[in-house]
Amino acid sequence: MYCCCAILTTDLTAVEQIHRLSLYAVIVGGIVFFAVLGSIVYSLIHFRAKENPGIPSQKPSDERMEKVLLVIVTVVTAVFVWLTFSVMSKVGDIPEHPKPDVLITGHQWWWEAKYPKTGVITANQIHIPAGRKVLLELHSADVIHSWWVQQLGQKMDMIPGQANYLWLYAEKPGVYLGTCSEFCGADHANMRIRVTAMDTADFSRWSQDQLRPAVAMEDPLFVEGARLFQQKTCTNCHSIQGVAAKMTIGPDLTHFASRKRFLADMMEINDTNLRAWLKDPQQVKPGAHMPNFILSKKELDALTYYIGHLK
Ligand code: CUA
Repeated sequence: MYCCCAILTTDLTAVEQIHRLSLYAVIVGGIVFFAVLGSIVYSLIHFRAKENPGIPSQKPSDERMEKVLLVIVTVVTAVFVWLTFSVMSKVGDIPEHPKPDVLITGHQWWWEAKYPKTGVITANQIHIPAGRKVLLELHSADVIHSWWVQQLGQKMDMIPGQANYLWLYAEKPGVYLGTCSEFCGADHANMRIRVTAMDTADFSRWSQDQLRPAVAMEDPLFVEGARLFQQKTCTNCHSIQGVAAKMTIGPDLTHFASRKRFLADMMEINDTNLRAWLKDPQQVKPGAHMPNFILSKKELDALTYYIGHLK
């Protein structure tokens, strides 16, 4: 059994400290809950009305017991306040002039990610190196969102006009799922987070791949899709490096097909899903800000092919 200060030992990661603090709070809260419940049940049975009860006892309450309970409650509360502040100051230890590894902006209803140290820009699927702490700078483009990937760090609100900072730490490579945890409108429930932690070599390979300009194919369907992308004004919201201006109203699509899922991790990227989305966005993700361009079958074929090949 650990003493409560074991939460604060330096060899625990931030996530382990938060987890252990929550565990202790649940255990102590549980003990208090059952003690109160037990005393209510005891009182109900022991002091129930008998036949001809007469006037109940007028003795004053047990003052000594009241004092003991007051001391217990004060001590337990004080210990948890101290532990909470200690864990918060360790977990949220941000340098005075932070140099973030990733800038994340919450949008209704997707995530924009920029890597200022390399220039990589991507959306929804966030990649980080495993085995070291990664500093995020969090913004919002519209309303308050909240970033939370439970296995990698604490929860942090994303507030319009303000930068908040947060450490992420993935011990080993893998996929870590999270979700927006502040109600942010119709599609709040469809604003999921997917963080892929990679070893250092894989991460730098991924960064290099992301820095390449968009592919250009000579395939007629691809060429037609690229033409429609401009003609249908998709470029007013989406950017494709080397093709369309840097708009950030919708996700950057330069390497769209190199991701596994889209619509803030709602769906797998494949021809069927992509086509359904382009055909009628409201049917797929009600409330989404993507307009319905009422595309013909031929236009759908070309655009699905084009976007589906942006590796
Ligand atoms: Cu974004 Cu809830």
